[in-house]
Amino acid sequence: MPACNPSRDPTLKTAGWVARFCSTFRQAAQGRLTPGSHSGGVVANNGAGRGRVALVGAGPGAADLLTMRALRRLEAADAVVYDRLVGPDILALLPRGCERYYVGKARGNHSVSQAEIGGLLVRLAGEDKRVVRLKGGDPGIFGRMGEELAALHDAGVETEIIPGITAASGAVAAMGMPLTDRAHAQQVRFITAQRCCKSTGRADGEPEWAALARRDETLVFYMGLNRVGDICSGLRRGGLPDDWPIMLIANASLPQQQTLAGTLAEMPAKLAAHPLPSPCLIVVGSVVEMARSTAGSCSSLERPV
Ligand SMILES: C[S@@+](CC[C@H](N)C(=O)[O-])C[C@H]1O[C@@H](n2cnc3c(N)ncnc32)[C@H](O)[C@@H]1O
Repeated sequence: MPACNPSRDPTLKTAGWVARFCSTFRQAAQGRLTPGSHSGGVVANNGAGRGRVALVGAGPGAADLLTMRALRRLEAADAVVYDRLVGPDILALLPRGCERYYVGKARGNHSVSQAEIGGLLVRLAGEDKRVVRLKGGDPGIFGRMGEELAALHDAGVETEIIPGITAASGAVAAMGMPLTDRAHAQQVRFITAQRCCKSTGRADGEPEWAALARRDETLVFYMGLNRVGDICSGLRRGGLPDDWPIMLIANASLPQQQTLAGTLAEMPAKLAAHPLPSPCLIVVGSVVEMARSTAGSCSSLERPV
């Protein structure tokens, strides 16, 4: 079945959809779908409907990095709502007849709003379907899972969270290095790079670079491919040395994985000379030196062993 883009699905855009969405919430108000209560990570409804939503992490890309529980939910799904980072190898695991809804967001192009995604999940569950909301990596890491959980919870839909391997874990594993190490990093921090730019004009401003510029920590920046210059200069201003290690890993865990390693001072020029594709992760810290020794030379573009 071809992918169904809800932005092309008239039921998402028209009064018909609005009516159905409102009716779901009316049902909730009338008690057919009652607001659930948390129990063991699952939000239960009152048992009236059979529809349920599993928020599932698809891992960093390779299909065999799915968890067994994620695979079981996919194999039993009536409908799957998935993101841009979920690749064809994983979609190939869906059962025949399973409805597919693509709601991917590329940078600067949020064609399907978060409210529409929440509404779609509630609608599908209201149709008594077993729904999988499939997100790249782990759904709870920069995945806007909280907003979807809130919409489902408000509508009394039974939900379940199935964690996935986040891109940071997948990427460093593919490069043969750890995120923490007794001799290198006693802490690890996952950071959205969305704020790492002076020109964003966001009220919450740039990160506190001096607080991030620690030598006993591994920093992993998500969504930062277009912010590498700001990140390198910010960390140097914050106190990290010019020769502090940094590695960019694009398409981690996939056959088309590419990496670029270097120092904070040289990385912006290196990236300009060897542009990397998205999605890309930025790892900063001396653990990067372990990748050099474990996985061989990473000083230029390369594929995993
Ligand atoms: C919206 S965040 C979602 C993160 C996801 N929930 C996770 O746990 O990995 C998207 C960012 O994750 C990173 N990412 C996801 N998959 C990746 C991959 N296979 N290789 C490199 N980076 C990846 C990139 O930084 C990308 O911009």
